[in-house]
Amino acid sequence: MRLRHMRLCFELRLRAPMAPKYPSLARAAALEPAVCFCFSFEKLLSEISVKENTSKCFCTAKKTKLEAPMADTTAPDSSSPFKSDILKGKVAFITGGGSGINFGIAQALAAHGAHIAMMGRREEVLKKACEELASKFGVKTFFKAGDVRDADQCAAALKATNENFGHIDILVNGAAGNFLAPPELLSPNGFKTVIDIDLNGTFNMCRHGYQYLKASKGIIINISANLHYVGTLFQSHVSAAKAGVDALTMNLAAEWGHEGIRVNGIAPGPIGDTEGMKRLAPGEAGEKLKKLIPLQRFGSVQDIGLAAVFLCSSAASYITGETLVVDGGHWFAKPPMVPREIVEKMMAASRS
Ligand SMILES: NC(=O)c1ccc[n+]([C@@H]2O[C@H](COP(=O)([O-])OP(=O)(O)OC[C@H]3O[C@@H](n4cnc5c(N)ncnc54)[C@H](O)[C@@H]3O)[C@@H](O)[C@H]2O)c1
Repeated sequence: MRLRHMRLCFELRLRAPMAPKYPSLARAAALEPAVCFCFSFEKLLSEISVKENTSKCFCTAKKTKLEAPMADTTAPDSSSPFKSDILKGKVAFITGGGSGINFGIAQALAAHGAHIAMMGRREEVLKKACEELASKFGVKTFFKAGDVRDADQCAAALKATNENFGHIDILVNGAAGNFLAPPELLSPNGFKTVIDIDLNGTFNMCRHGYQYLKASKGIIINISANLHYVGTLFQSHVSAAKAGVDALTMNLAAEWGHEGIRVNGIAPGPIGDTEGMKRLAPGEAGEKLKKLIPLQRFGSVQDIGLAAVFLCSSAASYITGETLVVDGGHWFAKPPMVPREIVEKMMAASRS
């Protein structure tokens, strides 16, 4: 069933002066990512009233309903082409596994027999996700709340998982933060936060997961993005972080290949019905974006989940250091310089 995302934005306090020219983006840049995620940028201008004092700006938002772009009905059937037991008995540890794409990966791995452990910041989200996986797929689940920015918490969650299951075979680094902000308005702390979660968090997990993956000859999958293949506006922080993640993927693959550990990445394009798309391309912006994708649809969480199953399977046993782009051709396709109708008219004119 399709989900409609509801988010209520109340009293949001800004912590930096705003550039009047870009009020919505200035507000976003001044906020911590966690707060920033609550915004619908399209609605900010019309629904937020601003009061200024000498040093700070405050804004008051009315209740705002945010909608993520919907998964596309033309998406291929989500049933798996893989045998349902190809990951039977494996243990997969997924950061940020309680929501969105990462939960989609958890579902796909569980559907193919893997037991699932997850770590994220919100215990109730992890608990609900684990209960759903256990009842739907009959696999064992385990969770530990924690922050990937904290190396000790990463180590503790991995240790507890290993004690619980006896081994860890697959590590998926999916925890991330994102928001829109032009670099000249982005606070250094906002930039650092994203690097800390996406890049340093990935390193923390790989570093502390190494001993378990060495023992199991395991697999790492780092969730990246396609933003840094080109210059993506308002995404300098995430682009820098994910470029670092890709570099880490290749480097760790080179370092740990002799231990039997494979390290790969997945770079999703725009995936419908996710928190990421809700923040980055809400409403009509998402519909416009869809038309620029060669395959003319958003990806689904199943698209990413099945890519993860493939990378974990023996079909990928000689693949390491690779970041698999799963984006419908989004990153390399450019909008036409001239609309198609005009091109057709010009061709017709030249023929007559
Ligand atoms: N949604 C998209 O279209 C899209 C596109 C490209 C890449 N991605 C990537 O896919 C992954 C999932 O994104 P999503 O859109 O499903 O968003 P999401 O918000 O549902 O997933 C991010 C998860 O990370 C967790 N998290 C955040 N900070 C954390 C921290 N410090 N410690 C532990 N957990 C933390 C969150 O609680 C959440 O569960 C991310 O790595 C994102 O960069 C998403």
